[in-house]
Amino acid sequence: MSKVTIHMVSSLDGFIAKNDGDISWMRLDDSFEEGIELTDEYIAEFLKKIDCYMMGSRTYEHALKLGWAYGDTSVFVLTNRDLPKIRETVEFYSGDLKNFINDKLKPKYKGIWMVGGAEVTKEFIRLGLADEVVISILPIILGDGTLFFDYIGQEQKLHLTDVTAFKNGMVELTYELINNVNQ
Ligand SMILES: NC(=O)c1ccc[n+]([C@@H]2O[C@H](COP(=O)([O-])OP(=O)(O)OC[C@H]3O[C@@H](n4cnc5c(N)ncnc54)[C@H](OP(=O)(O)O)[C@@H]3O)[C@@H](O)[C@H]2O)c1
Repeated sequence: MSKVTIHMVSSLDGFIAKNDGDISWMRLDDSFEEGIELTDEYIAEFLKKIDCYMMGSRTYEHALKLGWAYGDTSVFVLTNRDLPKIRETVEFYSGDLKNFINDKLKPKYKGIWMVGGAEVTKEFIRLGLADEVVISILPIILGDGTLFFDYIGQEQKLHLTDVTAFKNGMVELTYELINNVNQ
């Protein structure tokens, strides 16, 4: 069975990006004694769950500026524009998201990770396309920027399935989305 997971890094006040694009707030220097270490082994184990990534075009453009973080894993970028294809593993898509997920991605990939940004995430939740949300909350209040979940316009029940606190102050919450169209 395939699973569609939304993953996002957020400030405590729900922002995923600053207006000026600065990402220095994602570098952590907090210390939480009881937390677990975010080791290379932990990250390698985490990455094993991911068979392909999906993202909106603005997230793709930002990733191009920051440096490619997706290795050789397949990446599907949603866009209605002609964007530069920087690797063989990148594919562009425009159109009906339900068909794309159910007919193209699910038969081929088990772990489908939707990694932002806010616009695409909200579309996924509205359409009931996600099975799970993993949110990594960093110890900061940003006060301004792009909000993760503002005004989706409908209620979505969640079931908390996991909580992990890390030594660097990050808390990772995992929720299952209840009663989405695929269940
Ligand atoms: N903190 C985090 O974990 C995290 C994660 C990801 C992103 N971010 C940040 O979030 C910001 C970007 O988020 P965003 O909400 O502005 O934009 P976004 O969701 O990344 O991209 C939105 C774009 O996706 C395209 N799109 C959406 N649905 C589509 C569909 N059905 N078919 C074709 N194209 C579709 C459209 O692109 P076109 O206009 O090209 O048609 C739309 O303008 C960046 O600053 C990024 O760094 C943060």
